[in-house]
Amino acid sequence: MKSITGALRAAIGQRAKERPAIEPVPKSQRIDGKVCLVTGANSGLGKAVAIDLAARGGRVLMACRGGHPEAGEEVKHRSGSSAVQMLKVDLADLASVHRLGDELRAATPRIDIAVLNAGLMPRQASQSRQGFELMFAVHFLANRVLVARLLEDGLLQPADAGSEAPRIVLVSSETHRGAEPIDFDRLGAFVNYSFKDGLKHYGQSKLTQCTFAQELSRRLNPTGETRVAVHALCPGPINSNIAREAPLLLRPVLAPIMKAFFLSPAKAALPVTYLCCSDAAGERTGLYLHMMREKSPAPEASDPQNGAKLWSASEALLRPHAPGTS
Ligand SMILES: NC(=O)c1ccc[n+]([C@@H]2O[C@H](COP(=O)([O-])OP(=O)(O)OC[C@H]3O[C@@H](n4cnc5c(N)ncnc54)[C@H](OP(=O)(O)O)[C@@H]3O)[C@@H](O)[C@H]2O)c1
Repeated sequence: MKSITGALRAAIGQRAKERPAIEPVPKSQRIDGKVCLVTGANSGLGKAVAIDLAARGGRVLMACRGGHPEAGEEVKHRSGSSAVQMLKVDLADLASVHRLGDELRAATPRIDIAVLNAGLMPRQASQSRQGFELMFAVHFLANRVLVARLLEDGLLQPADAGSEAPRIVLVSSETHRGAEPIDFDRLGAFVNYSFKDGLKHYGQSKLTQCTFAQELSRRLNPTGETRVAVHALCPGPINSNIAREAPLLLRPVLAPIMKAFFLSPAKAALPVTYLCCSDAAGERTGLYLHMMREKSPAPEASDPQNGAKLWSASEALLRPHAPGTS
């Protein structure tokens, strides 16, 4: 899937074939008192997930970039809950991810559900604050650092006998299938590309993210017993703001197509809430959903050797950026 038109054709095809295989979690299923972190919660899928989790009784921490003061109020209003708090983060800056870790430590003693949703499709190649390819930084590196912080700080506590496993849900994409294999020697290196090749690099970053999800699941659940449920999914094509950076000429074509054929954020949120709230998803780990169907992620993403290589290569990349390192 290398072009925008190819992606649109595939998205429309997916939409037409959609047959829910997993039952959505009924609205009556409550998560009262559970603390839920949602990244990128001011827009599209993240906002719909935040509203749903808050409406079910969760305390929702919305980790968003600055400039969205209204989003928290909207989530409160639409969920009917006041247990909603906005936290600021730029996931393209590792120092900001660490500051979010500090803020979370002050805001809550634990996190029960972490929805790592934030994502983007930039107009052209861009770099993160630390010089990594931007989508690699936001879709993978920031999540790796954030999860490590939540574990180190004791906010994500692996379950022991009798306690419920916390959940980590990574919002990925089917574009990870068919992406070129991860180049571990040049992991995260900035590559120059134009909008035309953006989807290829988007798929690449999502393959890295899916590989991370599988490796994290193995590492946190070494005995096969679920101590932290780690899942990933592709929500399907969503009528969201993801194409906001599309070239001006394309936008008048894209907007009506997305409106007519893509899922509403609320509908696209159903598999996310399934992974966050269903009893079944809390007892397992390493699930991958494509909309409401369970699938295997691409073989490259499930391969434990790739997972181990990604872990050690990214550890080396992160070393110079640890807090306190000049
Ligand atoms: N839309 C689709 O068809 C589709 C299909 C498959 C998968 N997905 C995935 O679904 C997820 C949600 O996307 P969406 O469709 O809901 O798009 P969206 O409406 O554009 O929402 C993306 C969210 O991510 C946030 N974000 C981006 N860069 C960030 C950064 N550096 N720091 C903090 N937050 C950042 C955005 O914040 P700002 O508003 O401040 O930019 C926004 O809140 C993404 O991971 C995307 O890859 C989308």
